[in-house]
Amino acid sequence: CGIVGYIGELDAKEILLKGLEKLEYRGYDSAGIALANESGVTVFKEKGRIADLRAVIDPSAEANTGIGHTRWATHGVPDVRNAHPHQDASGRFTLVHNGVIENYGQLRSEYLAGIELKSETDTEIIVQLISLFATEGLTTEEAFAKTLGLLHGSYAISMLDGQAPEMIFVAKNKSPLLVGLGEGFNVVSSDAMAMLQVTDQFVELHDGEIVLLTKDGIRIRTIGGEPVSRAPFTAELDASDIEKGTYPHYMLKEIDEQPAVLRKIIQAYQGPDGNLQLEDETIGALTRADRIYIIAAGTSSHAGLVGKEYFEKLAGIPTEVHISSEFGYNMPLLSERPLFIFISQSGETADSRQVLVKVKEMGHPSLTVTNVAGSTLSRESDYTVLLHAGPEIAVASTKAYTAQIAVLAILASCAAEVKGHPAQFDLVHELGIAATAVETMIDRKEEMETISFDFLEMTRNAFFIGRGMDYHVSLEGALKLKEISYIQAEGFAGGELKHGTIALIEEGTPVFALATQAAVSANIRGNVKEVTARGAKACILSMEGTEEAGDRIVIPAVHPMLTPLVSVIPLQLISYYASLHRGCDVDQPRNLAKSVTVE
Ligand code: G6P
Repeated sequence: CGIVGYIGELDAKEILLKGLEKLEYRGYDSAGIALANESGVTVFKEKGRIADLRAVIDPSAEANTGIGHTRWATHGVPDVRNAHPHQDASGRFTLVHNGVIENYGQLRSEYLAGIELKSETDTEIIVQLISLFATEGLTTEEAFAKTLGLLHGSYAISMLDGQAPEMIFVAKNKSPLLVGLGEGFNVVSSDAMAMLQVTDQFVELHDGEIVLLTKDGIRIRTIGGEPVSRAPFTAELDASDIEKGTYPHYMLKEIDEQPAVLRKIIQAYQGPDGNLQLEDETIGALTRADRIYIIAAGTSSHAGLVGKEYFEKLAGIPTEVHISSEFGYNMPLLSERPLFIFISQSGETADSRQVLVKVKEMGHPSLTVTNVAGSTLSRESDYTVLLHAGPEIAVASTKAYTAQIAVLAILASCAAEVKGHPAQFDLVHELGIAATAVETMIDRKEEMETISFDFLEMTRNAFFIGRGMDYHVSLEGALKLKEISYIQAEGFAGGELKHGTIALIEEGTPVFALATQAAVSANIRGNVKEVTARGAKACILSMEGTEEAGDRIVIPAVHPMLTPLVSVIPLQLISYYASLHRGCDVDQPRNLAKSVTVE
């Protein structure tokens, strides 16, 4: 979900809608805005996209204050009734919320038994509580703080009081929220991108803080009432980075950016002598660890699997990869000196953050590999290494995945050097070769479109198989395809298929087999024979040097440890075209959100 708010002298509605369009990647089940002026608060909301919301807004509605929300449903189905903003029974208070209130059921029965609720959301409970405490005689600020004190869970909140349209009430706990500063106006936003249209000056908010915004200033305090002062930072984002330009979809733009991102990463981590370098503290944390625990979700966890190969094979550090949502609630036995590496494009994934909170409490060191400087995971972990991939907007991650792999290789290689492990290859040189190979694959779009059509046009399902490095990439290939084309796609270890999954193979079932690794090439080709003998239609992806006649995709030769950077490109493109041919929404696939800030 995403939140925006504006208070100033201009037309709030347009600024809010533009902001919400930029936040749409965070959720697009429904959206709404509330506008406040002397005559009260007017709410507009609609199911679906921001474009649908625009269509229901009265163009003549004028206000200099407002809040807005784009929703990814957690409590309650995506419809207008459950869309934000929500109001109390009297209509005096209007509120938008991201996050999940865990004790909302209990609060409802304890305080709101006599009140008829209008929605199924946990959010309505918040606004009804504030209203209740205000009727009992508290000021709005007091009622707001008292309510927040009762909430268990995560929230980013913005609220309007119809009796005080010259103010926005804001609060944050666990869910991301920033305040933006301007001349004669102030804004609130889930991320800096959404409000870059009006300012690049932002103030970070910490958990348990409340902010009161007027057009002339902001006042931060804790829920307990302690005043807080914090200097703003400048968001170093280029507004053009977040535009689609001439591309039909962000995903295609982001796929195309990958060679440039790889080159940027090499530059960013190259010292004056041409060697790779990282900050001493980061290297120290890596080399002190007797075991690395990589914690991530989705695509980032697939990059983590490749990273494990680097840490173990280049730097000799035993490494485990865990899914965030599992790790925090079912922790394995830890080693004596663990290092936790959080991989997260957004740096905001709540599942990953809950693990960070727990391991910090346990006193373990943490390092975040993220694309977003100043994100929650980056701020809260001990060390941060940035991806330099530029904003990634399409929900299906592409350039962040390749950037994560490149950065993990750099981390492992720097750790190897300090630990005195002999360099196995010149990483800078090999990353350069990989960047060129990525470019070559990107230039082969037409071929990938044909393959997509040949293999996926009619199918309900598809399989991706590989061994070792190729297995990790097959998981990512399958995830890309299912996310954006809704074809049921699964990645499997080539040798494991025969232990169950092969039962799913029917006449014509597409199987994408990755065979870039010379060491297991014969084995995976054997697995391909097993499936084709049962009717599967196989698309073999190999590499110059491991290719055989009939292979449908042959990528340029790169170092065997860097093949994921290149072999994933055709899979990204094949998924893109499958989504396009099926008429799906490439950038904003159904049911998903880019940045999932709820557990
Ligand atoms: C969401 C997105 C995925 C992403 C995952 C982890 O589920 O839809 O594309 O891989 O979150 O996101 P992160 O920002 O932590 O890498």
